[in-house]
Amino acid sequence: MKFFVDTADTAEISAMADLGLVDGVTTNPSLIAKSGRDFLDVIKDIAGMVEGPVSAEVVATDHATMMKEAEKLLTLGDNIAIKVPLTPDGLKTCRALSNDGVPVNVTLCFSATQALLAAKAGAAFISPFIGRHDDVGFDGMSLIADIRLIYDNYDFGTEILAASIRHPVHVLEAAKIGADVVTLPPKVMLQLANHPLTDKGLDAFMADWAKTGQSIV
Ligand code: E4P
Repeated sequence: MKFFVDTADTAEISAMADLGLVDGVTTNPSLIAKSGRDFLDVIKDIAGMVEGPVSAEVVATDHATMMKEAEKLLTLGDNIAIKVPLTPDGLKTCRALSNDGVPVNVTLCFSATQALLAAKAGAAFISPFIGRHDDVGFDGMSLIADIRLIYDNYDFGTEILAASIRHPVHVLEAAKIGADVVTLPPKVMLQLANHPLTDKGLDAFMADWAKTGQSIV
């Protein structure tokens, strides 16, 4: 399972990348707005910080302008994936860019049939939003399972990128189902490493080690 980090905050990306666990980055217009920085500047900076794909989202809603925006975003690094919304214009843009070999992340996916369309449009990634689905009383994780089944039925190469992740159990369930990628807020990535018994065990080991009076280096 690949781990992407879901933020446009370069300090957070740098801290996560230092752990050696970051395979890519996802951004969206809300995360860019939260960063308070110029869109193009921040994407360029992020693209220089990680090797893996950096999803940069178009903000137009019509195909022609999406294509123009994608052309500009692709100049910001050779690891840019263009993120488009799951609309008819977004799918058309996905097909056109995919035909040119550009990786496309189709976002705002809330149904398995939408995911089927994205795969048929040649998407490199489909982003089903788990947390937002849960928020309105649906089981976001069942969406991941349905997409996995459909993609496996037809051997689609589109990677399932579990998005809108809110807590470690989302990661656990997505991994059990076989999502290819999970995009994590930095806080959730750190929560994955936490366990009270790890802390308790380490405290005991350190206390016993101190009693030996030895050192390794
Ligand atoms: C990632 O690509 C999505 O934009 C992101 O995961 C959305 O998360 P949110 O629902 O917490 O805003």
